[in-house]
Amino acid sequence: MSASSIPNVVSIAGIDPSGGAGIYADLKAFSALGAYGCGVVAALTAQNTQAVTGVHTPPTDFLRLQIDTLFADVRIDAAKLGMLGTAEIVSTVADRLVHFAAPYVVLDPVMVAKSGDHLLAKNAVAMLREALLPLSFMLTPNLPEAGVLTETRAPETVREMYRCAERLRELLPTVSERWVLLKGGHLPGDELVDLLFDGDQMIEMRAPRIDTKNTHGTGCTLSSAIAALLPRCAGEFKPVETSVRRARDYLLRAIAESGRLDVGKGHGPVHHFHAWY
Ligand SMILES: Nc1ncnc2c1ncn2[C@@H]1O[C@H](COP(=O)(O)OP(=O)(O)OP(=O)(O)O)[C@@H](O)[C@H]1O
Ligand SMILES: [Mg+2]
Repeated sequence: MSASSIPNVVSIAGIDPSGGAGIYADLKAFSALGAYGCGVVAALTAQNTQAVTGVHTPPTDFLRLQIDTLFADVRIDAAKLGMLGTAEIVSTVADRLVHFAAPYVVLDPVMVAKSGDHLLAKNAVAMLREALLPLSFMLTPNLPEAGVLTETRAPETVREMYRCAERLRELLPTVSERWVLLKGGHLPGDELVDLLFDGDQMIEMRAPRIDTKNTHGTGCTLSSAIAALLPRCAGEFKPVETSVRRARDYLLRAIAESGRLDVGKGHGPVHHFHAWY
């Protein structure tokens, strides 16, 4: 990617027809942050702001064809991975990303939706650890997902989050630059804490909790914002920390302005285009 060009970023994830989470939300976040968005469908869901009522996964051959056809033509500068659904899907995605040596893979290990519905098969977790963690530049679990990945109970305090972030970093390769963003959205309290850790520096990022039920897709939006910003910030001082801080600022504004939208009766979406309208 030349310094002046617009990054091409792909989301490999599920479709949420309500547009608050999944690939549709990812494309909105990419676009709002100055990246060109592509999407590879790893799962279809029937979903609204209240519930997931069905999941349909494409045959792995067709998933492979989508990825191969896209990467054969389009230079991809970053990839965000979201809902992958099954062990077969996880292993197919991993195989193709290794093949194409995809840069800046941001893995959001989606397991459970805001509505409480399960989005990842139990036997897929081992495949995710074995095949996807080695090629991920950044891992962005929430607290329950962090518990599953580290095979311990989910952290219940910020102190436990520190220990958990260290354990998560041990699941990523130690030889090269890799980052964990442990999201503290599930802890109670007026202040939310996310931890960014590269194995050396633990960076605490705090923000006041916004009082709203419009948190559908906050995790999808954050990981996509980071994937859009990583290639853009590459030449800057502390590029990864800068990308994550800007992505969080963007998300917080999008949550704060979510009340201007009127979408559904459950956990509504965030306002991705708050800077425009
Ligand atoms: N009410 C809120 N006010 C401010 N920030 C929030 C709020 N809820 C979540 N966040 C922030 O949003 C980001 C996503 O956090 P969260 O822990 O909710 O992720 P998640 O559970 O993966 O989300 P999702 O259910 O969309 O997958 C984090 O940076 C978190 O701090
Ligand atoms: Mg999530």
